[in-house]
Order: sequence, then structure tokens, then C-alpha cells
Amino acid sequence: MKVLLADEYGFCFGVERAVEMVEEAIANGAAVRTLGPLIHNPQEMQRLAHEGVTTIQEPVQIQRGETAVIRAHGVTPEVQKELEEKATKVVDATCPFVTRVQKLAARAAAQDRHVIVVGSPDHPEMIGVKGYAPNHAFVVQDETEVADLPELRRPLVVSQTTIKAKTFFDTAEAIKSKTKDKVEIVNTICSATRDRQEAARALAGMVDAFYIIGGRASSNSVKLLAVCQEQCAKSFLIETEEEIEDNDLIGVETVGVTAGASTPDWLIRKVVTHLEEIGATLEVDLSLS
Ligand code: F3S
Repeated sequence: MKVLLADEYGFCFGVERAVEMVEEAIANGAAVRTLGPLIHNPQEMQRLAHEGVTTIQEPVQIQRGETAVIRAHGVTPEVQKELEEKATKVVDATCPFVTRVQKLAARAAAQDRHVIVVGSPDHPEMIGVKGYAPNHAFVVQDETEVADLPELRRPLVVSQTTIKAKTFFDTAEAIKSKTKDKVEIVNTICSATRDRQEAARALAGMVDAFYIIGGRASSNSVKLLAVCQEQCAKSFLIETEEEIEDNDLIGVETVGVTAGASTPDWLIRKVVTHLEEIGATLEVDLSLS
């Protein structure tokens, strides 16, 4: 049985950077506390917990002597300030792609322009970005919500980094009906999600079974599963190698593997090794029968 990895899989740039920054803070001997779970992967969170990393829900929980970590989604300037006042050190692991959106929003607000962010209003990234343009920003999920917006002043339209391009451009187009001014449209979608989906789609048509490694609460992993299922009926979302059922691989010649943007390499390696072991066992069984 052949095991093939998709061309793009696993940690995106921003998550890898955030985990490295946390590792560095641990190595410096600090008590490290992240504001919200660093990533949506229970196994990696467990590993970090063993190294002493804990999660807090509110900045008020941080204490002197501790290092506070801002995760890749970023936070509002107020939350950042509060952390800086309370913690001994703040590690800002905001993904640079998110920082770009925050800066664009802040610049437009300073020019007294409206900022429209296309994304989920409850997503931490959106809450953070909105905080950079207080009293100037609106978050809309798609073009159906544009009608509820007021008349807009020289609007800037940006996107949550992980949304679909079509949603963004359709919404940006609809926003033109809400102003007589010129609309500035800046596509701030990060390609990491799309790259992983395209690589999975390309591989799914060539294999007999597909394993997507990712946390069940990781929305990009769940989306990868949906993409693979379109072309490969035997597609499974698993968190660890222990969830692989040998029976699912009987008669399978080629198996594909991919992983969500918050799945660490060590977990992916364990799954691939396990699949190779199962493949070798099945071959022995076949030759004996
Ligand atoms: Fe950053 Fe894109 Fe990952 S915005 S956190 S590199 S999905």
C-alpha cells in the first residue's frame, strides 16, 4: 500500500510561527499563558500543557511574573494594552497577515473612512480587527448583509484571512451600492487554506482512501474532509493514528494523507508511519492466504 502526502498540508506559516514563539518563551523559563487556546489541536495543546503552557480566557487572569501570549488571530489594542500592563512580558504571535488587516483598518479609520470587513463577526480575528477601527468598522458575513449597512464614507473593504474569495468579491461588489464615493477593495485572504484544499482535491482523485488529520473543532480540517469526500468516498477525519481502522484499508492500494493548518508535524509523522505499518501487515496477510 502506497501512502501519499498532499503537496500542501499541516501548519500554516502563522501557526508555526506562533508555536515557535511559545517554545522560545518556555525556553526562557517563563510561566507562559496564552489568551485563548493557541491552536485548535487537542494533541498539540496537550503537549504544550506538559511543557507548562496554560490558557486563560480573559486578560484579567494574567499576573505579574507571567508571560502572556497573543495568538495568531490577534486581539484589539485595548486587550493588548491590558496584557502589557498586567504581564511581565507579552509575546505577540499575531500572524503578520492579520497584522496587515489591522493596520489597513486603523489607517482608514484615522482618515475618518468606513471599514467593512467581510468575515464572521464572532471570530476572534474579526473582533481584533474591528478594535483597530473603533466607531468606523462593520463586519458583514456576505453580500446578503450589505443592505443593512448605512450610507458609507470612502469605504475600505478587507476580508477575514480565511474566507472564500467568491464571498469576498461578491460582497465587495455589493458594497458599491452603498456609497457615492470610491470603494477601496483590498483582498486580505491568506492562501494557506485554499492551497491545502487544492492540494487535497488534486490528490483525492488518485487514491482509494484518504485520511485528514486534524482536530474536530478545527474548521479548516472539517472543510478538508468535505473536499476529499467529493472525490474519495473513503475519506476519514482523524485526530490520531489510533483512530485508523485496519478493516477500512483492506483492498486499498493507495492512501492519501493531509492535515489541517493547526496539525503539528509530529502527529502527521505518527499517522504516516502507522499507515505504512498497516500496509506492510496487510501485504504479509495477503501473501500467506
Ligand atoms: Fe496566518 Fe494564514 Fe495561518 S493568516 S495564521 S498564515 S491561515
